[in-house]
Amino acid sequence: VRIDKAGYKHFMAKEIAEQPVVLADALRHYTRSGALNLPDGLDFTGIERITMVACGTAYYACLVAKYWFEQIARLPVEVDVASEFRYREPPIPGGTASLFVSQSGETADTLAALRYCRDKADRVWSLVNVPTSSIAREADLALPILAGVEVSVASTKAFTNQLLLLALMALKAASQRGHLDAAGLAQALDDMRRLPGLMNQVLTNEARIERLGDRLAEAQDVLFLGRGALYPLALEGALKLKELSYIHAEGYASGELKHGPIALIDRNVPVVVFAPHDGLFEKTVSNMQEVMARHGQVILVTDPEGARLAQEGTAATLILPEAPSLLAPILYAVPAQLLAYHTAVAKGTDVDQPRNLAKSVTVE
Ligand code: G6P
Repeated sequence: VRIDKAGYKHFMAKEIAEQPVVLADALRHYTRSGALNLPDGLDFTGIERITMVACGTAYYACLVAKYWFEQIARLPVEVDVASEFRYREPPIPGGTASLFVSQSGETADTLAALRYCRDKADRVWSLVNVPTSSIAREADLALPILAGVEVSVASTKAFTNQLLLLALMALKAASQRGHLDAAGLAQALDDMRRLPGLMNQVLTNEARIERLGDRLAEAQDVLFLGRGALYPLALEGALKLKELSYIHAEGYASGELKHGPIALIDRNVPVVVFAPHDGLFEKTVSNMQEVMARHGQVILVTDPEGARLAQEGTAATLILPEAPSLLAPILYAVPAQLLAYHTAVAKGTDVDQPRNLAKSVTVE
């Protein structure tokens, strides 16, 4: 199949815009009339912990999943980057399921980590976008994320579909382990069906994010902050910005602000804060106020209630639709991607093929 930009300026823009559609496709495939439709081989019986291994953006998807599995399924999760995992040769106790997440399914370090676990872990599962890939073939069970071909070096729709699958897996684990009853599961799946529509609403706000990108393009350094399952989104926002626009960016857990990055804050440092109005909102807002007291330029990304309570004094507030907390990390991926995209476009960098980067890292 010939893949073209379908009228978009870049593959990345096209792939960002495709997210509601490919999310809906994957949801249809992996659910059936209010229930999960995941393969039987994805069985959490006898599993006491999960080890997740990946690189780059896929690694951040795993970090989000850790919050979900631990909170919803009460299942401990360890997450590691593949290049560290493979050489550390960690012990793999009985009762471990290992999960390897990779868009391409060919990342050399992730594949080596999978091979390390092959004869040690109780289960060897993979989550891939390319079902014929090595990481798919060498796992006991490979779940395709069904995002369609991703061309842009920076991963976008693969990330959100990885998150969707990881959320569905966490719901299955929660059900099997007795932490979620049928009604709770049906409710969570109902919520998930709202996701493509919510994402479309965020995408209609793109012009506003484009103007913020013009402003970020002037910056030398940008900080991203988040808490809980939004912390990995801060990491992903910073990764995207640095790879596409070559602006130095760091993602931090909001609570770590005072253990270092606050020293960087002055009126020239934009700070992007991901803060939906959830149980951690007030904590994040108090960190945000510490930034504003030092004249940092806060770009608050929140929902209507969060904006009502905390937008005063921010340089800009981006209002996303109110969403169930399970969905927030998936929804907040979109402004993270669009901010990086529009900053890069404003700077005139090569968005789809940033310097020094490769889509698939098949050598060490
Ligand atoms: C490269 C790409 C990233 C990707 C990472 C992991 O660095 O530029 O977009 O997240 O590899 O790739 P994988 O195919 O294993 O998900």
